[in-house]
Amino acid sequence: MRCVVANWKMNLTSHEARAFCEDLLLRMAPDPGAEIGIAPPYTLLHQVSELVRPKGIQVFGQNGHAEPKGAFTGEIAMPQLRDAGCSGVILGHSERRQFFGETDAALTQKIKAAWQWDLLPLLCIGESLAQRDAGQTLAVLGQQLSILAETGPGPLWVAYEPVWAIGTGRRAEAAQVVEAHAFIRAELNRHLTGTEYRVPILYGGSVTPESFPELLGLPEVAGGLVGGASLDSRKFAELVKQAG
Ligand code: PGA
Repeated sequence: MRCVVANWKMNLTSHEARAFCEDLLLRMAPDPGAEIGIAPPYTLLHQVSELVRPKGIQVFGQNGHAEPKGAFTGEIAMPQLRDAGCSGVILGHSERRQFFGETDAALTQKIKAAWQWDLLPLLCIGESLAQRDAGQTLAVLGQQLSILAETGPGPLWVAYEPVWAIGTGRRAEAAQVVEAHAFIRAELNRHLTGTEYRVPILYGGSVTPESFPELLGLPEVAGGLVGGASLDSRKFAELVKQAG
């Protein structure tokens, strides 16, 4: 089954979130045939969960701390995400890595914590433009996935998000997506060999209803992690339909 996850980032108020969810549910088929997730800002988690979870849509946190509680002003703990209705958590988004100093070492702990609290980690990986231009794309992806050697196996979704394609309107070309996803699959096979886990690999970066069908036709593209286009319920409903 394909997956589509809306990453609202630091957008929408409760009034706007309610309008989005009500409109999305009106537009969606009762059985959309895809796994759907929404990652709202923390203040909206409860509200969005109550609206969409009865319809089978999962709710994700946008980040979570490795410690279950404590003196970490401004952070949110995995059990708090669960309590607010989340079943998953986005980890390692490039904006967290770039602007908030998120490291692979911290992510190793966060993945373990997510599993401990029964949350599905959606791990984001991707290269910057400078790294791509320097021919380092696969090395960067390999490095970012190497934390799986330390976490060990568990339920996981991965999103390939080339940093230069996020929020820029500049989607990666098909050949670039195919190369990256094939490499990620090989690395996942290496890290998770002999386990029961089959990890879907989502693409993220300027996904729109115009570009999504072609992406979904590429090998090893199991869906999308969507920022900008996921703030418009009409567009997001269209993406859900395309994935179904
Ligand atoms: P975008 O964001 O669709 O606006 O490029 C994707 C993401 O950051 O997950």
